[in-house]
Amino acid sequence: MIIPVILSGGSGSRLWPVSREHYPKQFLNLNHETLSLLQEAAQRLQDVEGAGTPIVVCNEEHRFLVAEQLMAIGLQDSHIILEPCGRNTAPALALAALAARDLSPEAELLVMPADHVIEDATAFASAVRQGRELLASGKLVTFGITPDKPHTGYGYIRRGEATGQGYVVDAFVEKPDEARAKAYLESGDYLWNSGIFLFTATAYLDALKQYAPDILEACEHAYQARSEDLDFLRIDAAAFARCRSESIDYAVMEHTRQAAVVPMDPGWSDIGAWDALHELKADEAEGNNAVKGDVMLHETRNSLVRSESRLVAAVGVEDLIIVETEDAVLVADRRHAQGTKLIVNALKAAG
Ligand code: GDD
Ligand code: MG
Repeated sequence: MIIPVILSGGSGSRLWPVSREHYPKQFLNLNHETLSLLQEAAQRLQDVEGAGTPIVVCNEEHRFLVAEQLMAIGLQDSHIILEPCGRNTAPALALAALAARDLSPEAELLVMPADHVIEDATAFASAVRQGRELLASGKLVTFGITPDKPHTGYGYIRRGEATGQGYVVDAFVEKPDEARAKAYLESGDYLWNSGIFLFTATAYLDALKQYAPDILEACEHAYQARSEDLDFLRIDAAAFARCRSESIDYAVMEHTRQAAVVPMDPGWSDIGAWDALHELKADEAEGNNAVKGDVMLHETRNSLVRSESRLVAAVGVEDLIIVETEDAVLVADRRHAQGTKLIVNALKAAG
């Protein structure tokens, strides 16, 4: 049985000022008119053969948001694991794997970030079906996307020999610098790691034992001392606080020899920053602009303009991101969209 694991712990600071600490991007309707990114991820599972009730791992602070949003789409039975603090994805997945193994010793975990857009759910489901065939040999399966730019925010996978309906992973490099990302792109031998994984709970826990035993140990302690209230599974705060913060990519995927990749092309996009949303939503016919809300444009090109509370008008501008909310307005060059995070960091530092 597949137990889907939806990772919903990110803060989405590069999508400020719409995404806020108390209400991060995965809970917002950024792509769909009525569904949040989290709800879209959960609904995508309807097409996945053998997928059972999901486990959602999120920060304690967001428990009611998660529960309400899942209930709104009929998934009130979901298991919700609450993290008292963020320790990145390797520990979050350790908790999910421990819980999944208790639910079903043979559990296969389909790990899905809550903040991705996938346009073709059928193509995604068929990639998962291909990936499942590799699980018997204990593989840690990732789903690979053909890269089209030297993005430095992704993991790069060098594909090796064919195995089943996928490929052996010859090398996994998380977030390379620009020079290496360019070389990987030009070589044509690399895929981006989509951040979506498929493995048995046992295979992941074994990999942690081998490559990050301290993370496994801290998570085991935190999980063993758990308490359950209402629909939430609370892990022990003090034990989890002692865990090292690390992503699955650095903790496991860069080291394991058990990785396999299944290439897929389901119209995937990681809504990391405003430029990604622009790329997804831009309409060539209207100057390649992506607009939402009360917006007026004249001679404006390649821009994302979004208004929440007032009329926003732009004249004669190009490559801009303009995002208006009730208490803050962002104006950024589209090529500097990643820099929004620096503003959020400065705001945090200023208290
Ligand atoms: N529960 C929980 N707890 N979830 C978390 C935590 C945490 O502490 N930290 C991150 N997440 C969630 C995020 O909400 C997101 O859905 C997912 O885990 C991945 O985390 P990101 O922080 O967005 O990772 P990334 O985008 O920098 O890199 C990963 O994804 C890329 C593709 O989008 C890596 O897997 C890359 O290799 C990959 O290319
Ligand atoms: Mg991401």
